[in-house]
Amino acid sequence: MAKTYSIAIDGPAGAGKSTIARRLAKELGFYYVDTGAIYRTVAYFMDLLGISPKDVDGVERYIDELTITIEYDEEGAQHMIMNGMDVTGDIRTQDISQKASLVSAHRVVRDVLLEMQRDVAKRHNVIMDGRDIGTVVLPKANVKIYLTADPQVRAKRRYDELIAKGQKADLPRILKEIQQRDYQDTHREIAPLNQAKDAVLVDTSELDIDGVVAAIRTIVKEKIAL
Ligand code: DC
Repeated sequence: MAKTYSIAIDGPAGAGKSTIARRLAKELGFYYVDTGAIYRTVAYFMDLLGISPKDVDGVERYIDELTITIEYDEEGAQHMIMNGMDVTGDIRTQDISQKASLVSAHRVVRDVLLEMQRDVAKRHNVIMDGRDIGTVVLPKANVKIYLTADPQVRAKRRYDELIAKGQKADLPRILKEIQQRDYQDTHREIAPLNQAKDAVLVDTSELDIDGVVAAIRTIVKEKIAL
């Protein structure tokens, strides 16, 4: 099998990981893998079955009934297929964000998803974003970035996004949800969110998207000769 390259981008919710990873993947001709979407699909599936994301026995009982496939459309956008059904749009709610954070704490879920993520990286050049990519999923990634920003800045970005879409948004509530998810994702026992020792820290609080993409492009070019 030909050698593949991998770029790991980890960080808390709302740091800009997906926007930046998507843009860089397009530029470099890499696959973009949004691993949060896979956890969201598990959360959505359990939710449809009425299983609480905290109910480890329930989650364990039903996880084998779930088949997740990742597909890409002509534009390179990732689609999540849950037992044959495209749920890409359904998993993008605040409710599923919280439930994904809770369901992702269980070992049984992380073990199943770990194999899936490594398998994609074995077959393709990837930019993968998530919480544990540089630390656990791809510890030998060619490039590791830890992308972060002040919680207030992340909340404001999410707020602006919702307003731009014409949806209702409550800034203090969004901030509270972000802080709660940060806490859960960094304090869980298995594969918690933290910066890999060899990851480059990029704080996006004061940077716009072009600035972040430029900074990361420079880091990538130093490490991968494309
Ligand atoms: O990136 P996101 O907001 O779509 O992720 C949703 C949740 O999934 C996040 O709060 C924690 C979990 N997650 C994880 O545990 N590990 C990953 N690699 C990606 C996401």
